[in-house]
Amino acid sequence: MKPWPYPLWLAHRGAGKLAPENTLAAFRVGAGFGFRAFECDVKLSRDGEAFLLHDDTLDRTTDGRGSPAEVDWADLARLDAGGWHSPPFAAEPLPRLAQIAGFCQANGCVLNIEIKPCPGVERVTGEVVAREAERLWAGAAVAPLLSSFKPDALEGARDAAPALPRALLLDELWAGWPEAADALGVAAVITNWRLMDRALVQQLHAKGWRALVYTVNDAPIAERLIADGIDGIITDRVDLLGPR
Ligand code: G3P
Ligand code: MG
Repeated sequence: MKPWPYPLWLAHRGAGKLAPENTLAAFRVGAGFGFRAFECDVKLSRDGEAFLLHDDTLDRTTDGRGSPAEVDWADLARLDAGGWHSPPFAAEPLPRLAQIAGFCQANGCVLNIEIKPCPGVERVTGEVVAREAERLWAGAAVAPLLSSFKPDALEGARDAAPALPRALLLDELWAGWPEAADALGVAAVITNWRLMDRALVQQLHAKGWRALVYTVNDAPIAERLIADGIDGIITDRVDLLGPR
């Protein structure tokens, strides 16, 4: 297997649930607990700006409504993406990928960018995010890891920025996933932790792929996976698990 520059522990959406997910405030909280690797979800505004948001709509985690794919970045930038979480985070904005790149590089952190396209724009989201990531991390010691549940998004990323490492995300072991991972030229496969066991770790390693899991929030499960040879663990519980 090729060298793997990412730490074992990655903070999910910045800091799990302790701060509003996918905001700069969450990254600050995660870093405060000692995390130096983060996962976040990235999609595109109507005018093609790469920014952080998990859902297909703005409703749950901002004071906006509807699909962000129908809103320009200038309007998304005015939304409150923190007040839904708790009053101290009110007025926390949605961050652009560029701001997160700045935070990570200034604080010695590495990033797993989950490409989370709005429906129907999978390939172009992969292309734009990969191109932007390559530009933002040019000259950085450790490139961001681009992951997605959507093979079309990873195909776009592969074609736009082939040198950036990719990972296929799996919530189930669907028929043909190993062939898809091969064709996408992945460096890693990231599964729901319930799917991962020693045999799957070994199957992935035999292909030269690293084995990562999401989202582990219990110490005994993490210990079992570490004993199985896991290469990366994405967690919400930055206060309980991880690098301390
Ligand atoms: O990247 C792993 C994990 O974040 C995938 O699930 O829904 O939290 O983005 P989700
Ligand atoms: Mg995610």
